[in-house]
Amino acid sequence: MERNNETPEIELMRQNEIMARIAEKNSTLESPPKAFVDTYGCQQNEADSERIRGMLSRMGYEFTKDEFEADVVVINTCAVREHAEMRVLGNVGALSHAKKARRDMVIAICGCMVQQEHVADKIKKSYPYVDLVFGTHELPRFPELLDGVLKPKRKRIFALRQSDGEITEGLPVYRDRGVKAWLSVMNGCNNFCSYCIVPYVRGRERSRLPENIIAEAREIIAGGYKDITLLGQNVNSYGKDLGTGADFSYLIEEINKIDGEFVIRFMTSHPKDATRRLFETMASCEKAANHIHLPFQAGSSRVLKAMNRGYTKEEYLDLVTMAREIIPDIVLTSDVIVGFPGETEEEFEETLEVLEKVRFDALFTFIYSPRRGTPAAGMPDPFTREEKQQRFDRLLELQNIISGQKHSEYVGTVVRVLVDGKSDAGSEYNLTSRTSGGRLVHLKGEESFIGKFVNAKITQSTTWALFGEIV
Ligand code: SAH
Ligand code: SF4
Ligand code: F3S
Repeated sequence: MERNNETPEIELMRQNEIMARIAEKNSTLESPPKAFVDTYGCQQNEADSERIRGMLSRMGYEFTKDEFEADVVVINTCAVREHAEMRVLGNVGALSHAKKARRDMVIAICGCMVQQEHVADKIKKSYPYVDLVFGTHELPRFPELLDGVLKPKRKRIFALRQSDGEITEGLPVYRDRGVKAWLSVMNGCNNFCSYCIVPYVRGRERSRLPENIIAEAREIIAGGYKDITLLGQNVNSYGKDLGTGADFSYLIEEINKIDGEFVIRFMTSHPKDATRRLFETMASCEKAANHIHLPFQAGSSRVLKAMNRGYTKEEYLDLVTMAREIIPDIVLTSDVIVGFPGETEEEFEETLEVLEKVRFDALFTFIYSPRRGTPAAGMPDPFTREEKQQRFDRLLELQNIISGQKHSEYVGTVVRVLVDGKSDAGSEYNLTSRTSGGRLVHLKGEESFIGKFVNAKITQSTTWALFGEIV
């Protein structure tokens, strides 16, 4: 099926030619040049970085973990909260020293943060040693942009197109997460939650064709990966723009049919589009993880409406009830924002009430951060940072108790886990693993277990993790 929002074949051929040319030049060097790619932000951004690494690798670059010895540094940025932006700018500032010592180093910044015009302008003015800035819609043109910077007479390049966004198939991918792989099923977001910058920097929702996703899933499994996460800002609306009838549940069903033992995870699920069919599909597909990340953001229906979330507190709680009717032991996690403009003490307490009612296994909690250009940034916000911080601390305290209790319920049970890596040095529990529900289990055992599914008897627990023995 040909679509008008797919990056044209001819464009990709051009990039391939440029990559081949750079690779040839790099192959004449004494040793391969080095690249460093740093990622801020969500899994979608990490998946983009894997494509940037894929392109760099095809151009003959090797990777280093030390940005100061890199010939090319790419910083892939996030704009979701101010904190993320400050971290990026701090890091870019630090690179100025490296650049002084090594004038031919290339510093590139890309991703969501620079897709905002005011940020790109700031970099142009205040960070003169940044060579290349490219927005979220320019990723497939990275080889051409890098080539432009590498020309003998250096010039700065700013490539920042406003666009609804494209779907690009066929870019090389460099995966380095051991047995875990990301698989992007769609890009962009149409929801315009009133606090959120993502729809402005990522363009409109667009789904990849099911056959392309399933083919990539096959490749991933054939490559030995055991844990695959389907990615989208709202996977529950996958396929609506395609009109082929293929929905997100269909994708799970088809990937579940691929031979082999592996886990299918996905994120993020928007509550307004989560359906009975989704939970039934999760229940009937044995490879689907026993987990759903279902961000509720706020407990008060008034705040939810001001956030433009498209559901009420009651509807959210009903959804959780339905999920648990279909999958009684499903692991539930969520995102919450504290201090949305005008959220009162009583409204905040409704958030605590949702925590107590649902008893999430884990929670990602954020203090509201105004994002320029979003509706919420213009709403009156009478509560102080300190008041918000206090509420945030109360929220965390309650959730930590719940997480601790939930984890303690595992002690004495035997769970099937995927061993996915080594623990930090120094711990007697030398391996890390994940349950189907995504809970972290520290284990003792041979490193040869990495990449294998084993049964683990849980012996201890904390707020954040479980500890066990392979049985
Ligand atoms: N598409 C996902 C969320 C992506 S952003 C979804 O709808 O669930 C990840 C999380 O960051 C959000 O769930 C929200 O909790 C938080 N977030 C987004 N914008 C924010 C802001 N302006 N301030 C604080 N937290 C924010
Ligand atoms: Fe942001 Fe809402 Fe889209 Fe999630 S669904 S990315 S929170 S606008
Ligand atoms: Fe951040 Fe962009 Fe993801 S703003 S959260 S990296 S989509």
